[in-house]
Amino acid sequence: MSELHPLDAAGIEAAVAAAVRAFDAATTLEELKVARLAHTGDKAALTLANRGIGALDGPDKAAAGKLLGGARASIGRALAARTSVLEAERDARVLVEEAVDVTLPVLRAPLGARHPLETLQEHMCDIFVGMGWEVAEGPEVEAEWFNFDALNFDPDHPARAMQDTFFVAPRDDGGAGAGASATSGIVLRTHTSPVQVRAALERKEALVEEGRGIYVICPGKTFRTDELDATHTPVFHQIEGLAVDKGLTMANLKGTLDHFARALFGPDAVTRLRPSFFPFTEPSAEMDLRCFVCGGSDTACRTCRGTGWIEWGGCGMTHPNVLRAAGIDPDEYTAFAFGMGIERTLMFRHGVKDMRDMVEGDVRFSQQFGMEV
Ligand code: DAH
Repeated sequence: MSELHPLDAAGIEAAVAAAVRAFDAATTLEELKVARLAHTGDKAALTLANRGIGALDGPDKAAAGKLLGGARASIGRALAARTSVLEAERDARVLVEEAVDVTLPVLRAPLGARHPLETLQEHMCDIFVGMGWEVAEGPEVEAEWFNFDALNFDPDHPARAMQDTFFVAPRDDGGAGAGASATSGIVLRTHTSPVQVRAALERKEALVEEGRGIYVICPGKTFRTDELDATHTPVFHQIEGLAVDKGLTMANLKGTLDHFARALFGPDAVTRLRPSFFPFTEPSAEMDLRCFVCGGSDTACRTCRGTGWIEWGGCGMTHPNVLRAAGIDPDEYTAFAFGMGIERTLMFRHGVKDMRDMVEGDVRFSQQFGMEV
């Protein structure tokens, strides 16, 4: 396009007409923007002509200013008119395209609910996370060494027998027993205690070099060769706690368990420890919870069967051999551990009478816990 002179009235009129035609030809706001830039942008003929006004003198300057001012005003009006037409069209289209038909039938199938075992497990972990503990997890298919040997089980401990433990791969000796190589089998873990050893191995450097105590809570699936019935299931869940630090005692264990009990069962909850035996703790204890329903005062109470106490889990001071297996010096550090079943906790906390209700996957069971997604 040849240059437009600021006093070329016919040329300016033609440029205005071209702009108005281009605006009217635009069918969308995007196309209108392209047309606007072409006719009013920095390189447009009218813009350049406008810039040429400054070089004119006196009367010519005034005439050119009037001419080009009028042209700009016409273009502005045409642009505004086309913009409002196209915006109105767009708004009408959006209303149609994004309309929601509120008369359509609703989805009648329930979406489901989070399983109470999962939410209870999360709640238990949260209590410990609130005290600065870490959540640690380990594999469900576990080396026999982590599941038993590192936890100070004898090579011929009865718990290792095929009738209790799911073996994925047998020991090299085929499970010959006493004195045999006990470290080579692969099992479905029978408890969450192997995670103690893994968690300690992973954190022992920070413990020794930075003095960072190990405080981990380990929830997860566990497996035993039980038939499914009202009180047994071959796949169940446990939650395990482990604390390793300088100077930990049974008092720290008891205080931790009491706090756990209060957080889960209310401010009046109390635990008691009874002497027991586990290969991986010494001393070892069974942990009972004072009945949170009758407080121990109702001999006909269905929750504690009139005994006043509910068996909740096992615990104790970690055996020196377990610390050694994790590469931690038992003369410098002491540790406590505890473990309990999550199914069992759900049963007595919520009055679930039959474990099969937990595994059948009927959403009506989960919904009773009020946790619909
Ligand atoms: N692992 C044990 C079980 O499955 C539970 C247990 C007992 C865990 C004592 C512990 C503990 O950490 O100290 O029966």
